[in-house]
Amino acid sequence: METSVNATNYLRNHYHQTLAELKDFIKIPSISTLPENANDVKLAAEFLSNKLKSFGIENVQIFPTVLHPIVYGEFLHAGSDQPTALIYGHYDVQPVDPLDLWHNDPFEAIQDGDNLFARGASDMKGQIWAVVTAIESIMRTGDFPINLKFIFEGEEEIGSLHFDEFLKSHTELLSSSFSLNVDAGMIAPDVPAIVYGLRGLAYFEIRVEGPSHDLHSGMYGGVVQNPANVLADLISGMRDQDGVVRLPGFYDKVIPLTSQERVELARLDMEEDYYIKQTGVPRIWGEKGYTPVERIGGRPTLDVNGLLSGFIGAGAKTIIPSWAMAKVSTRLVPGQSSEEVHRQMIQYMQENAPETVTWTVTKLSGGEPSISNIDSTESKALALAQQEVWGIKPTYKREGGSIPVVAAMQQILGIDSVLTGFGLPDDNIHSPNEKLHLPTWFKGMEALIRFFFNARK
Ligand code: BES
Ligand code: MN
Repeated sequence: METSVNATNYLRNHYHQTLAELKDFIKIPSISTLPENANDVKLAAEFLSNKLKSFGIENVQIFPTVLHPIVYGEFLHAGSDQPTALIYGHYDVQPVDPLDLWHNDPFEAIQDGDNLFARGASDMKGQIWAVVTAIESIMRTGDFPINLKFIFEGEEEIGSLHFDEFLKSHTELLSSSFSLNVDAGMIAPDVPAIVYGLRGLAYFEIRVEGPSHDLHSGMYGGVVQNPANVLADLISGMRDQDGVVRLPGFYDKVIPLTSQERVELARLDMEEDYYIKQTGVPRIWGEKGYTPVERIGGRPTLDVNGLLSGFIGAGAKTIIPSWAMAKVSTRLVPGQSSEEVHRQMIQYMQENAPETVTWTVTKLSGGEPSISNIDSTESKALALAQQEVWGIKPTYKREGGSIPVVAAMQQILGIDSVLTGFGLPDDNIHSPNEKLHLPTWFKGMEALIRFFFNARK
C-alpha cells in the first residue's frame, strides 16, 4: 500500500517553487467587489485552471457566471469504490484599503521571518495553494488514493452571488461524497482545528432621506427632522448595550449551544486576554451569560459596518443633511435564515422609523449558517492527519466568520464539508498587512497529503 512518504518528500523538495508560485498567484489583484478588477479576477481563474492542467487534472473548465467565473476540474481514477472529494476554494480577495497602512505593496508578497505578507496570503490564496500543492505532490509521486473534483469561485468575498445557481444547474457534474474546505482557520500554530460551525450573514444598506437638499441648520433646525439623527436612533434601537439584537423575532428560531458543546468550547484557551491581544481593544464586550468563544461561534450579532451622512470635511458646516446611510450586517447562527432576518429588518424599520423621513433597506449579501458532522469518516481522516503532523488531536470549534457555500452544498448537493485551514487569528484577514505563517502553512500541506491517504477506504 502506498503511503504519504513519497509525496511528502516531493513537497519538501519543491518548497521554494511552491512559494514562488503562490507569490505569482497573489500578484493578480483579484478583488471581486471592485468593477475595475473584474479582468484580474478572470486572470486569477485562468492562473488556477492552468495550474490544475499542469499536473494532470482533467476536464478543467472555466464556467462564466453573470459576474466572476467558476473553475472546475476532476481526477476520477481511484475507482468507484473510493470516495470523491469536492475541493472548494475562492480565488477572489477583499479590497486593500486603507493602502497607507500596508508596509508593502499588498500584491507583491514580502517574506519577513516566518510570515508572508500580502492580500490573499491567508484568505485564501495560500490555502488554495496548500491543497493544490498537496494534491500535486501525490500525483507526481504515485496514484491518487481517492477521486477528486475541484470547484473554485471568484465571488466568495461578495457573498457567493452566483454559486447556488451554479450548484443547482450542475448537480450531476459536482456529485461527490463530501467537500474539503480549507477556508476556515486555526487558533494557534501548535493547535490544529476542525471547524464544525459557521455563522450566516445578512448584510443591509439602510438609507434615510429627509429634505430634498442640505438645509441651514439654524433656519430649519427644530422644524425639519434630521436624517442622520433618525438613523442614529434607529441603529441604536437595533440592539441593547450588551449586544442583544432587537429586530422582531430575531432569536425565535436560534438553536442554542448544547451543554456538551459549551463544555468543549470551554476547553479552548480563548478568554478575554486572547481577544484583547488579537484586537488591541482596552476591554472586550458582549452578550451576558456567554463566554467570548461562545458568543463568536454560537450567538448572532448585529454590527454597523459603515456610516455616512452630512458634512465630514475639516472644520464645521452648519447643516441638516439631506440623507444618511448605514451599512449594517448581522451574523446568524443555525436556525436563523438570512431571508427571515431581511423581513425582520424591514419590520423593525416600519415599526420604528418616524413619518418625518423616508427610508429604504437593501439587502447587499446573505448566506446561511451551517453545522457540519464531525463524526463522518472524512472528518476523522482529517483529525488523524492533523494528529500525525502536529502531535496533538485537533480542537473542534465553531467559527464566527461565514462561508455560505457550506450550507448551499448541504442543501443543493446533499454533501457536508470538512472544514479546516492553516490561517491564524493574527493573520489580519480583510485588513492591512494580511499575512500567512509559513511553517504552519507547510504543516498544513503535510496534513493534507496524509488526509487524502487516510480518506481512502
Ligand atoms: N475565510 C473567511 C471566513 C472565515 C473567517 C472562516 C474566519 C473562519 C474564520 C471568508 O473568506 C470570509 O471572509 N467570508 C465572508 C463571507 C461573506 C462576504 C458572505 C465573511 O465572513 O465576511
Ligand atoms: Mn474572507
